[in-house]
Amino acid sequence: MKSIIVSTTLMLLPLLSTAKPLLKSRQIADPQPTAGDLNNAVFKWQSDTGLVSNFLNVAVDPNGPPTGQDLLNDAASAFSSENDELNWKAVIDSSDLAFEDPRIAQANDTLVTQGTFQMVVQGLQDISINGDSVRQADVDNINNVRCSQVLPAIDMYFAAVADFLNAVSTEGPFQTQTAVRPFACQS
Ligand SMILES: *[C@@H]1O[C@H](CO)[C@@H](O)[C@H](O)[C@H]1NC(C)=O
Repeated sequence: MKSIIVSTTLMLLPLLSTAKPLLKSRQIADPQPTAGDLNNAVFKWQSDTGLVSNFLNVAVDPNGPPTGQDLLNDAASAFSSENDELNWKAVIDSSDLAFEDPRIAQANDTLVTQGTFQMVVQGLQDISINGDSVRQADVDNINNVRCSQVLPAIDMYFAAVADFLNAVSTEGPFQTQTAVRPFACQS
């Protein structure tokens, strides 16, 4: 009798130990980010998009953009803001929401897998190093990928978070936020 119980338990153990990896292929945060954490991540990320968009406006200002060291400093600051966006993205990526809403996987594919976010990072870094000589071409390239791909993907993140928060939290309603566009995205 005793040996039957032991062998049954041994048979069940492999099933139990593989149950969780079958359900989730990636590590989820424990504890989960709270509704407040997710809401804060959206507003911080949005604020960073505003700082970068402001730089992209100013860097090609027809009334006189910053030049020389001022341009290098402004570009370095925008580069830092762009990188900071990844901290807020990581908060959202660590939430169950990232598994549950297919918009996150799609937006992440655009931003990370296709390398569009990194193109923006590299363009800003290039201006912060090489300044005036690369300014116009880099701003054009950044605006091109950012207006058409990066900012719409960030909007998808924000929409997914707002829908999630409205479903799970009583502190709402949570408005859907959008990434801040530079003037170039309107043309
Ligand atoms: C985003 O894409 C990268 C690279 O393809 C992948 O390693 C990561 O797990 C993805 N994150 C999410 C939240 O989908």
